[in-house]
Amino acid sequence: MIKPDAVANGHIGGILDQIIKAGFSIKAMKLTSLSAEKAGEFYAVHKERPFYGDLVKFMSGGPIVAAILEKDNAVEEFRKLIGATDPKKADEGTIRNRFAESIEANAVHGSDSDENAAIEGSFFFSAFERV
Ligand code: TYD
Repeated sequence: MIKPDAVANGHIGGILDQIIKAGFSIKAMKLTSLSAEKAGEFYAVHKERPFYGDLVKFMSGGPIVAAILEKDNAVEEFRKLIGATDPKKADEGTIRNRFAESIEANAVHGSDSDENAAIEGSFFFSAFERV
């Protein structure tokens, strides 16, 4: 997912360019937005964390781009490409290093396991929206 900060800051093209150059193929993609309820559901695993309320507000505050990406070892490869959660700690040249603003407004989301990638893919896309 390209998060609201990166969409608002004009980084959709730059981020997709980096993703494609890194060898991922796009299997589904859409510009959409999350209601507070949907953002809360997406990040339900963090419900008890102190940042949850602010995160839900931020994630429902503007358009996002959702995508399903494919590559060998995609989950690990994508997390390497995006860098650490906190952009201050993200390696030089990673997407978060280049495009993120803060630990909350950190430009992109990547699934953390194959199982969650399947769940999150179905959260945004129906079967006929995928190639
Ligand atoms: P997390 O799953 O820990 O990171 P990642 O996105 O790298 O898998 O956290 C989910 C999101 O929650 C993170 O992208 C941004 C937000 N977040 C905060 O706003 N503050 C924080 O202190 C942390 C750890 C995360």
